[in-house]
Amino acid sequence: MQSAPNRELRQAAEALKNGQAIGLPTETVYGLAADARNAEAVARIFQIKGRPFFDPLIVHLASLDEVPQYAAEWPEQAQKLAEKFWPGPLTLIVPKKSIISDLVTSGLPHVALRVPAHPLALALLREFGGPLAAPSANRFGRISPTTAAAVREELGAAVPLVLDGGACAIGLESTIVSFASETTTILRPGGLSREAIEEVIGPVKFTDKISVPPGAPLTAPGTLAQHYAPRTPLRLIADLREVDLVHRASCGLLGWGELDETGFAMVRNLSPQRSFTEAAANLFRYLRELDHADLTQIIAVKLSGHDLGLAINDRLSRASH
Ligand code: TXA
Ligand code: MG
Repeated sequence: MQSAPNRELRQAAEALKNGQAIGLPTETVYGLAADARNAEAVARIFQIKGRPFFDPLIVHLASLDEVPQYAAEWPEQAQKLAEKFWPGPLTLIVPKKSIISDLVTSGLPHVALRVPAHPLALALLREFGGPLAAPSANRFGRISPTTAAAVREELGAAVPLVLDGGACAIGLESTIVSFASETTTILRPGGLSREAIEEVIGPVKFTDKISVPPGAPLTAPGTLAQHYAPRTPLRLIADLREVDLVHRASCGLLGWGELDETGFAMVRNLSPQRSFTEAAANLFRYLRELDHADLTQIIAVKLSGHDLGLAINDRLSRASH
């Protein structure tokens, strides 16, 4: 007899073959996955998320061996990074082959590829036997889900099936490295640090989308100035002394290390020991918890800006409004 997990995997693969979109755990955040070769299935992702069609999707593969089926070119640097960090929190943007639906890339000639490290994601990719387009499984612009329950909370009945793979180990989206122009560029900081990438291929450019001048073309259209947003207004500050006691009483506090918690209505410490990996894993869950607490404002304190702190500060600054 087939064990329960296997039955669920087969059901999920079957749903994907029928053009459905399903909730998928990865080591970074949960994704909303559909067949990347099926335009109608991909359109369903955009519809469920309320995502604009100009924002392209990442295609997930079971292994590096599948790359030649989908990439029209594969630079040596991409090969080096993939060998070192796949499966893992790294997305590589390269010229695409036509088998990938244009809807996936929003008409761009390049495709974003990633091999995720979560065992359940890999098992499903093998069972399904094809490429899966999957953005984070949240409504457009909102906090990314890091548990199956958060996916259901975000997308509800619109998604027939959510595979439950527990809490995401990394908790931040993948780092996106683009080979679309002459210079290798990090388009989105994420679960793999810039330092780790540069150790393998040397110096890379880093583009902070917030600083793109108005009217300039966006190379990663999804990296918008406001994203990952809770409903509660979030203010990002460098120093807690900026917030007086009267104000604190109706606010939540999100920070790390030794925090002056005096007077806040609610406190979430991302990592008392200042571990970047712990802070990343807690980030979206804590944002969600604070967002549910009926506060007038969430005060977030910046982390130090190296290693994964760069990606965490990036998410916090886009969450602020
Ligand atoms: O960790 C992750 O990357 C998660 C999990 C589910 O794999 N996925 C994820 O997808 O974060 P999403 O859709 O939330 O973010 C994908 C980002 C967007 O900013 C999008 O604009 C960019 O990748 N992107 C995708 N394809 C691209 C392309 N061909 N050229 C430029 N940017 C691209
Ligand atoms: Mg997203």
